[in-house]
Amino acid sequence: MKKYDILAIGELNVDLLLNRIAGFPEIGKEIFAKDMTLTLGSSTAIFAANAATLGARVSFIGMIGKDSFGDVVKSTLAQRHVDTSNLIEVDHAATGLTAILNYDNDRANVTYPGAMSLMGLMDIRPEIIREAKHVHVSSVFLQENLHRDLLDIVRMVKDCGATLSMDVQFDPAETWEFDYARILPLVDVFMPNEQELMAITRKSSVEDAVAAIRPYAGVTVVKMGTRGSLLVTPEGQHALPAMLNKSVVDAIGAGDSFDAGFVAAYVMGKPLEECQRIGNLTGAVNTTAAGGTGAFSSKAAVQEAAQKHFGQTLDL
Ligand SMILES: Nc1ncnc2c1ncn2[C@@H]1O[C@H](COP(=O)(O)OP(=O)(O)OP(=O)(O)O)[C@@H](O)[C@H]1O
Ligand SMILES: [Mg+2]
Repeated sequence: MKKYDILAIGELNVDLLLNRIAGFPEIGKEIFAKDMTLTLGSSTAIFAANAATLGARVSFIGMIGKDSFGDVVKSTLAQRHVDTSNLIEVDHAATGLTAILNYDNDRANVTYPGAMSLMGLMDIRPEIIREAKHVHVSSVFLQENLHRDLLDIVRMVKDCGATLSMDVQFDPAETWEFDYARILPLVDVFMPNEQELMAITRKSSVEDAVAAIRPYAGVTVVKMGTRGSLLVTPEGQHALPAMLNKSVVDAIGAGDSFDAGFVAAYVMGKPLEECQRIGNLTGAVNTTAAGGTGAFSSKAAVQEAAQKHFGQTLDL
């Protein structure tokens, strides 16, 4: 019996949201924002929090500074029932922060990566991996050293006997360097969205991109927004339309909530097509409340939203 169902390895930062801003900022001037929130940011944190809400025992390996933003990260994860005993707190770097300036439906973001860019192979202890049934690695391009060491990290995870899922997420540098021929044979469930998959394979259609990774990949699930998802296994493909939400609040974190539902079902041994249904469902539930974790206050709340908005059951 392993101590954790899921060990998330990824980035951690706080989001500083500035809302209702009086105009655009200008060099040499100062303007007011009428509203401000400081919250836990980072897509891997949304994944971990929501997987824990769905009932998985989740721990997190991520790097933060020994500072007050680090305390916000830690306490928020703990409130969401994510184990924080494996977080790496360092003196030599500050916790990452994204400043988000919101203008109606548009936003301007500035990220200071700080500690999250420093975590690499040497920081990840195999004895912690050995305590996990499953490892989920995410946001590989956002974390400089993790990106550099990625192949060795996935090798270590497999040597420790855990199953592995991976969501690459966006590459801010847009160079999309990802050695899929060597990495994917070690990944049990690969979870990119369609743009990410086309970018890493340098293909212009999902079909060509799937064909490019097929010789190397185990199971792949491609996220396609309002068009749902595509499950690709060595046996075949299964497209599942999205469970359409007529009154979307926002789609922030839908992909992370998809991952949380899919992986929570996967570690419980559900068949792959049921994992996909649950992923589509938790992605859709995500859009019924604000932000990535708003709809995930409790498992009962997720089950209720699944039934009320989409007529679907969620038994995990
Ligand atoms: N508006 C929506 N209504 C219903 N379901 C949705 C909606 N948007 C997304 N989903 C579901 O959530 C899943 C994941 O969303 P999406 O494809 O946007 O992932 P992503 O691009 O990785 O997102 P993120 O920006 O969060 O990383 C989709 O496959 C779909 O099933
Ligand atoms: Mg995504």
